[in-house]
Amino acid sequence: MKEQNGKKGFTLWFTGLSGAGKSTIADALAPILRDRGLKVERLDGDIVRKSLTKDLGFSMEDRKLNIERVTFVAKLLTRNGVAVLASFISPSIEVRNESRNEIGNFIEVFVKASLDACIERDVKGLYKKALAGEIKDFTGIHDTAPYEQPPTPELVLDTEKLSVEECIEKIIAKLEELQYL
Ligand code: ADX
Repeated sequence: MKEQNGKKGFTLWFTGLSGAGKSTIADALAPILRDRGLKVERLDGDIVRKSLTKDLGFSMEDRKLNIERVTFVAKLLTRNGVAVLASFISPSIEVRNESRNEIGNFIEVFVKASLDACIERDVKGLYKKALAGEIKDFTGIHDTAPYEQPPTPELVLDTEKLSVEECIEKIIAKLEELQYL
């Protein structure tokens, strides 16, 4: 892998239910990694779906395409020494493993929160709509949209137990252990 300023590129892949805390953690982590001299890019479902993948919906097939396109971008960045923080529900084990194989320096972070906690938080008000039948194929709510937990992620962050700061400490420790920092 190409190194930039002595730094190896990698992709931190945050997976978990909507509202589990993926974007919150990635957003808080980005400036910390920049302060350490890394070049950082964020790839986030809510943003990417307004541009690169705005033609896609939430069927299993469309989610797969969404992740495949994002993986393509993450791969290019990673091989050029960038620290990529990717936050996507990415509900399929198989599709995430394809991203892992494609990207190479891939660190899977399971951002864990129970469905009940996510429904309770409902930051975007989408669970309310999904439960009222106003949104279909909603992850964790509808049979058409299951979430498959990673069996062997590099890191599990339980956001019902840990603060954002504690999550970030764990990520930094993992990056140091894997010699990315
Ligand atoms: S993924 O399954 O293809 O990886 P992605 O992370 O890009 O999903 O987008 C998820 C975000 O889209 C959610 O956080 C939520 O804001 C929004 N969203 C809209 N409709 C749905 C839906 N049916 N299921 C899940 N998320 C949805």
